[in-house]
Amino acid sequence: MLSPRHFGPRPIRTLPEENGLVPGYRRIRVRPATPVIGATVEGVDLRKPLDEELFRELERALLQCKVLFFRDQPISAAEQLAFARHFGEVEVHPFLPAGEVPEVIRFEKDEQVKGVENIWHSDVSWREVPSMGSILHAIEVPSVGGDTLWADMAAAWQGLPDDLKERIEGLEAVHDFAHSFGLLLSPEELEEKRRQFPPAVHPVVRTHPRTGEKILYVNQIFVSHIVGLEEEESDRLLAELCAQAAIPEYQVRFRWEPHSVAFWDNRSTQHYAVSDYWPRRRVMERVTIIGERPR
Ligand code: SIN
Repeated sequence: MLSPRHFGPRPIRTLPEENGLVPGYRRIRVRPATPVIGATVEGVDLRKPLDEELFRELERALLQCKVLFFRDQPISAAEQLAFARHFGEVEVHPFLPAGEVPEVIRFEKDEQVKGVENIWHSDVSWREVPSMGSILHAIEVPSVGGDTLWADMAAAWQGLPDDLKERIEGLEAVHDFAHSFGLLLSPEELEEKRRQFPPAVHPVVRTHPRTGEKILYVNQIFVSHIVGLEEEESDRLLAELCAQAAIPEYQVRFRWEPHSVAFWDNRSTQHYAVSDYWPRRRVMERVTIIGERPR
């Protein structure tokens, strides 16, 4: 049954904007892509090391806008890695194929290999210490299709009705790789990886360690259940919470060009790679920065 909260503007925080820019930056121009999430950043060459001021501005823009887009950045894998390392330690993904460098994941899709990242998720939320952010570089893009969407999960929390906010505060959820990457493993490999990466328990509502924002931190692909609830109740609640990422008012959609780069905060967003381009070729490379244990 629809109620007035299902239509009209949502009660969520928006980005400040003056003359098409987010104000307060000296070295870069930050152009909001939507009123809520995402901005195109101009005035930086990602191939070059960042000085302290430029690093601070990019970090602030990431925290504020949650996903940053850069155009015309023909970076090598080594340069992408060096850029990522300004923001933290970088991980090697235990399941996804690497490119030239172990820390750089290569998503190479074509007629034989279909895009399967079309489900809302936050990268490696199944780790005990999940990701702070990911940096994705487009190497080859289809002539049409293959966009990526991000959802602002702080907005998703803000938009929940008060009774639901109260109900989920303090709940914890189990994040597990078994229902996604685990499906590709033999029973022996699964057992071995399970030992290395046991299911992780994270709060359903986490607090961003830098901005203090509350964030709805459950996703469709990696969360198996909510701790302490009967299966049916857990499934129903998870379905309602995970569906929040699909609300267009919380989203930005990015059209890739060759050498576009997106840098997103995995703590406060989820993303969805639209799988509408098969059998066309789409090649992307991702570096994943390690974050902190969600609280
Ligand atoms: C990912 O899920 O990190 C990949 C996103 C994309 O290929 O657009």
